[in-house]
Amino acid sequence: MARPLIADIDLNALRHNYCLARDLAPHSQSVAVLKADAYGHGAVACARALEDLAPAFAVACLEEAETLRAAGIEAPIVLLEGIFEAPELERVDALGLWVAVHSEWQIEALLSFTPRRPIPVWLKVDSGMHRLGFPPAQAADIWARLQAAPDHVADLHLMSHFATADALEPGYFRRQLDLLNALAKSLDAPTCLANSPATLAWPEAHGAWNRPGVMLYGSDPLEGANDASRSLVPVMTLRSEIIAVREIDAGEPVGYGGRFKAPRPTRIGVVACGYGDGYDRHAVDGTPLLVDGQRVGLAGKVSMDMLIVDITDLPSAGIGSEVVLWGQAANGEVLSVDEVARYCDTISYTLLTGVLPRAPRRYHGG
Ligand SMILES: Cc1ncc(COP(=O)(O)O)c(C=O)c1O
Repeated sequence: MARPLIADIDLNALRHNYCLARDLAPHSQSVAVLKADAYGHGAVACARALEDLAPAFAVACLEEAETLRAAGIEAPIVLLEGIFEAPELERVDALGLWVAVHSEWQIEALLSFTPRRPIPVWLKVDSGMHRLGFPPAQAADIWARLQAAPDHVADLHLMSHFATADALEPGYFRRQLDLLNALAKSLDAPTCLANSPATLAWPEAHGAWNRPGVMLYGSDPLEGANDASRSLVPVMTLRSEIIAVREIDAGEPVGYGGRFKAPRPTRIGVVACGYGDGYDRHAVDGTPLLVDGQRVGLAGKVSMDMLIVDITDLPSAGIGSEVVLWGQAANGEVLSVDEVARYCDTISYTLLTGVLPRAPRRYHGG
């Protein structure tokens, strides 16, 4: 028997989540964010599954776009960080890509390059994230320079990124949004602003385009605080099996360092999944898993290839029992990646993008 760890990818769930993002913003176009190999789900398979729904895709860099083009994906693809060096414009032009521009050197490169067709450009403004983008005070000048170069630049949009769209306290988000609304109005600029939380919760932030990412994969950035976010469906189910069972006495330690001490005579199951597959080693004792669709807790530190669960209260479980690390069990029970992430003191994004190639992806639906 092969090692039982599999990352099952439900492409129908991906389509469902995309349609939710699209329907929440009927006056916007929604670009599907497929960077980091579609948040670990496989960018080519996800692009193919969304091809008839999404008018465009977004990735972080040229290499990610080239992978999609090589697989025959023809939809527009925007490079969210634009080019990393001027010669990339040659490939941008040849592949018909769109670019974000966030720095003066990118603008100079763009304006001194003669493309076959003018390149669609999203001008990135730093409205408060303080990561990429031009200061708002420079936006009008740069906008005018780009508009004055129709042989180089097509279809100019204003882009920015929210730092706190998922926060319960909306003060800082509002400050960014007010600034951007004023800027867009003064430039008469179409915008692309909204990430997943803004798509889900802030219709005021919806622009000509939105950029939902993590919600497409069924992770809820609002932690259930919103009706729409509660109807997201997990796309990835990371599943494995119990490969060994032990009975240990009360007081016995389990795993490296003996972090977990059996509080009673305890039945433990060993699961074929570890940090060498991308499962987070920061998971604390009690981190939930589904064994045969029932919640049980992690017992002891995660090893490279294995982890251990306490199945004392699940006498029917044994070798070969299904284990869901996150996602949906065969009995329909769901364990959200967001909940697992909280036990690992991290976010769903790192768990999903962190699933390593040793966990084979198996695609369904789409
Ligand atoms: C520029 C940009 N746009 C959109 C997204 C999508 O954000 P989310 O996954 O929170 O929807 C990201 C994610 O990191 C991003 O960096």
